[in-house]
Amino acid sequence: MAYENILVERPAEGVGLVRLNRPRVFNALNGPLMDELMSELAAMDADETIGCMVITGVERVFAAGADIAEMAEAQPVDLMRLGFIDRWDRLRAIRKPVIAAVSGYALGGGCELALACDMIVASETAVFGQPEINLGVIPGAGGTQRLARTIGKALTMEMVLNDRRLSAEEAERFGLVNCVAPVSEYLDVAIQMAAHIAARAPIAVQIAKDAVNMALETTLAAGLAYERHLFYGLFSTLDQKEGMSAYLEKRKPGWQGS
Ligand code: CAA
Repeated sequence: MAYENILVERPAEGVGLVRLNRPRVFNALNGPLMDELMSELAAMDADETIGCMVITGVERVFAAGADIAEMAEAQPVDLMRLGFIDRWDRLRAIRKPVIAAVSGYALGGGCELALACDMIVASETAVFGQPEINLGVIPGAGGTQRLARTIGKALTMEMVLNDRRLSAEEAERFGLVNCVAPVSEYLDVAIQMAAHIAARAPIAVQIAKDAVNMALETTLAAGLAYERHLFYGLFSTLDQKEGMSAYLEKRKPGWQGS
């Protein structure tokens, strides 16, 4: 499919890479870009040869937020009619893991897009922020909720109320990102992480992602019950039989994805 705002690659076996590609406007996330990104992620989710996805920008910027020019004159009803933020929500329906490889600015909707991914690999120059308060609004694509759940209330308040930005080192210290790598390496690190995940038992990977995400949605008791049912359910897969046989026979498992 021909896209105008993203670039799509297969950098390693089992890995789908999407590069946000509006560098002139710091990858501002306008409607067409978000539609293309979500369509491609859905296509990769349905592609059996892909096991894990990576979203990245360019070295200078991951994404500087929703496109301010696009929404500046909008009325609430316009945003509702367009499903302006609903596009971001489509990421939640993706079953395979998605890694954000972030270098430079991840601001506003850019920070929220990274937060909506399952893991974040940052370059040393990454800057995370929610500067919407400077525009007279607040984060609208999950920033207040996901940040509070990830780094806690105090720091989230600072970021959202006072445009406090986090360096890559701070983001790692506060548990926002999985790891920090030099600018020349961060994308390779993310791709390698994705390739390792893609080489694992596909159904178990997707179920594992679902189970972890449930921890953020529900009570401990309900989450534990959910996890237990998923665990039992995996014993209906060939991969469970293969994984445990291979362990006992001291050989490498060959995953079927079934
Ligand atoms: N929307 C639209 N255009 C943007 C943009 C955005 N979010 N961010 C940057 N751009 C554009 C600039 O307008 C500029 O375009 P022109 O050359 O045509 O003027 C171009 O990108 C380069 O930007 P700067 O000249 O500002 O570059 P800089 O290096 O001086 O600063 C920056 C870079 C710090 C990222 C700065 O551009 C900036 O602060 N951008 C806005 C960040 C922001 O407020 N994000 C929140 C958006 S609202 C949101 O995301 C809501 C939500 O929760 C969904």
